[in-house]
Amino acid sequence: MIANRKLLLLPGDGIGPEVMAEARRVIDWLARSGRARFELAEDLVGGASIEATGKPITEPVIERALEADAVLFGAVGGPQWDSQPFDNRPEIAILELRKRLGLFANLRPAPVFDALIDASPLKPEIVRGLDIMIVRESTGGIYFGEPRGIETLPDGTKRGINTEVYTTPEIERVARVAFELARKRQGRLTSVEKANVMESGLLWRQTVTALGAEEYPDVQLSHMYADNCAMQLAKNPRQFDVIVTGNLFGDLLSDLASMLTGSLGMLPSATLGAPDAAGRRHALYEPIHGSAPDIAGKGLANPLAQILSLAMLLRYSFDMQEDAAAIEAAVSNVLASGMRTADIEQKGTARIGTRTMGDAVLRELDKLG
Ligand code: NAI
Ligand code: MG
Repeated sequence: MIANRKLLLLPGDGIGPEVMAEARRVIDWLARSGRARFELAEDLVGGASIEATGKPITEPVIERALEADAVLFGAVGGPQWDSQPFDNRPEIAILELRKRLGLFANLRPAPVFDALIDASPLKPEIVRGLDIMIVRESTGGIYFGEPRGIETLPDGTKRGINTEVYTTPEIERVARVAFELARKRQGRLTSVEKANVMESGLLWRQTVTALGAEEYPDVQLSHMYADNCAMQLAKNPRQFDVIVTGNLFGDLLSDLASMLTGSLGMLPSATLGAPDAAGRRHALYEPIHGSAPDIAGKGLANPLAQILSLAMLLRYSFDMQEDAAAIEAAVSNVLASGMRTADIEQKGTARIGTRTMGDAVLRELDKLG
């Protein structure tokens, strides 16, 4: 049994602590069943941290995140903190963690669960078996490029400026993550930019092409313009295996791909940093949904995105493929049995709450042993 791997849990606000409690029971199950034991720490982020310390995240929490092998994050934010100054909002916690941990590759899987096929806005024959992984560069590009700002011209008109900037090392490191993933999946990678109208996109295409030829000749690489990619995701999404793209296009395309599955409460994500000499990398895992203030405190939240984020954590931070697969299988089985939280409820299914859903996953895990 693997011992003493360090996990930091940051439940956050709203439904964050509710769904984290269910993920924590799965962590306990891993220990109980002799699969893996973790050294657990838990801390405050977001609004919860503002209440206790005045800040959305404190230096000791960042230190603990830097020391941990992986961070499991819930969600932050809520209307009670809307009046906070912009640079002290709960959401700053996640930005700060990304920055300090150097998390540049955001992995967003968009799988369609067979049992939830009716939840997709697309026809079943278009989405059945869909399993896309979007890798979005998340620390560069136009959200961070200089120059930026709003300036006033001599004639009094104003000009807003943002700059798309990518260097070859930035492109290579995120492409490498995507190539490695493609290798372990169906072996296909689509690189997405606008090389036709943007120089940064042209450099992106050239860099990914060269890296692929040199280090990943076994991966089938293709290129697509971002606007076409949006169209293809709606028209024929099953053509994709792994997609790699920059920050801005990734923001849009990952949200689009998520909605093909039709189930916000089901979708996990990972954000990875660069490996050090020993192959160890910082990583943070979180559901893509927010703190859902409208249902917080009612025990109604779907904990499956948080539980699947834990499965991703096992897969990508600890190479615990079997345990990750067991959790994913348990989730599929629970869905197949007709159990649904309100967000994924369909006709004829049983409506249950957060804890009951957690119970059902644990029962399935016990069956899998
Ligand atoms: P949201 O994802 O919190 O909620 C959108 C809708 O989906 C709501 O109706 C909610 O009830 C529902 N929903 C979300 N997760 C669910 C789950 N697990 N089970 C059942 N239903 C679920 O997005 P919204 O409303 O835009 O944002 C609410 C707060 O969350 C804001 O303060 C926002 O800034 C923050 N937020 C935080 C994120 C993070 O921590 N990474 C990401 C997105 C939003
Ligand atoms: Mg977005």
